[in-house]
Amino acid sequence: MTKTISGFSKLTKEEKINWIASTYFSNAEEAISTIKKYWNQDTDLQKLHDEFIENTITNFYLPLGVAPNFTINGKDYTIPFAVEESSVVAAASKAAKYWGSRGGFKATIINTEKIGQVHFIYKGDKLKLETFFKQIKPKFFTETESITKNMQKRGGGILDIELRDKTSALENYYQLHATFETKDSMGANFINSCLEQFAKTLKNEALDFEEFTTDEKNIVVVMSILSNYVPNCLVRAEVSCKIEDLAEKHIENPQEFAEKFVQAVRIAEIEPYRAVTHNKGIMNGIDAVVLATGNDFRAVEAGVHAYASREGQYASLSHAEIKDGIFRFWMEVPLALGTVGGLTSLHPMVKIALEMLGKPSAQELMQIVAVAGLAQNFAALRSLTTTGIQQGHMKMHLMNILNQFQANQEERKKVIKHFEKNTVSHSAVVDYLESLRS
Ligand code: MEV
Repeated sequence: MTKTISGFSKLTKEEKINWIASTYFSNAEEAISTIKKYWNQDTDLQKLHDEFIENTITNFYLPLGVAPNFTINGKDYTIPFAVEESSVVAAASKAAKYWGSRGGFKATIINTEKIGQVHFIYKGDKLKLETFFKQIKPKFFTETESITKNMQKRGGGILDIELRDKTSALENYYQLHATFETKDSMGANFINSCLEQFAKTLKNEALDFEEFTTDEKNIVVVMSILSNYVPNCLVRAEVSCKIEDLAEKHIENPQEFAEKFVQAVRIAEIEPYRAVTHNKGIMNGIDAVVLATGNDFRAVEAGVHAYASREGQYASLSHAEIKDGIFRFWMEVPLALGTVGGLTSLHPMVKIALEMLGKPSAQELMQIVAVAGLAQNFAALRSLTTTGIQQGHMKMHLMNILNQFQANQEERKKVIKHFEKNTVSHSAVVDYLESLRS
């Protein structure tokens, strides 16, 4: 039986589900029932979600957890995290509380510039292209006025446009490399609209440029698109305190702890295998807040990892040092975020998340997200260099296993007590549960 279909997008939602269920599931009725269980009873809300994307059949839940007690630049926040991995929110909460009593987190915006490029092919004299570009540059601004008017009112717009010669890397390849300020919006639509207009202006003006030969007039625009690499849209998050103030339950010798912690960061600075995992831990925090606030986590991921490779080798995003008796831990990350536009005014849970954060500007959100990443990294390194991470992870894992086996309250209590002293593993928990039940 064929498992392909034409005209799928034209089917009703019900028909789509029926086709999928009857084509791919051994128990079609059960599949339909599970899919529909995740429909929202509020039909308007369901319609809103249906229309975010195409061919929606149901909703896919992620838990939204919150980590209270974050102090950032002296202001208190409860940060929402949308994430499926257990321990992330618990780790964030712990790090927030720990640093809250040690002066809190500091965050600074370094810059907020976004980038977009028109990639084109020009077969001809480079000097003539440069003269042409200089002459028509003002037109790129005037011919995008209808697009930039509102952004300019908000203090943003096109910052600059450069002609870049890339022919040494690829024959006849040039770029219009443009920089933008997009204020509180992530700016993808704004930037792409500007770029597509630049491309039109470029092509049209070339046709009228008398110094160009017929071949030179034929500029071929390959594509016009924003870049998700935003090394100049950068935020810094940091914590610091006296070495002796690091002392806590699992940190009996703060000097030793600080030295081991700095060593762990140094390893991630020079060893890519470790750097990837180290940065993954940072992204546990960053992605979860980016997602909860309706931002594009794929864009953030791509940009952050490119930034981590900017020196030619993938390396740790965070850094640590001990100097004059002070422990300092910090990170700079590129984050293109928005608090207006996109999902921010549409998705009810995104609105809740943003209001919980005090309706931040994009710059404030950059600071919050960077801090969530640094907190997560601190929590991971602290566990890794002291107790190891499995202790905390397995505690959460234990809960998942208990849920999976639908343990009742009595069983839960007994299992939790038993595994206070015994090592958690899936089979050990299952065996113990079975022994209780038999
Ligand atoms: C797990 O999701 C993240 C960690 O592996 C990060 C790290 O190793 O630094 C704990």
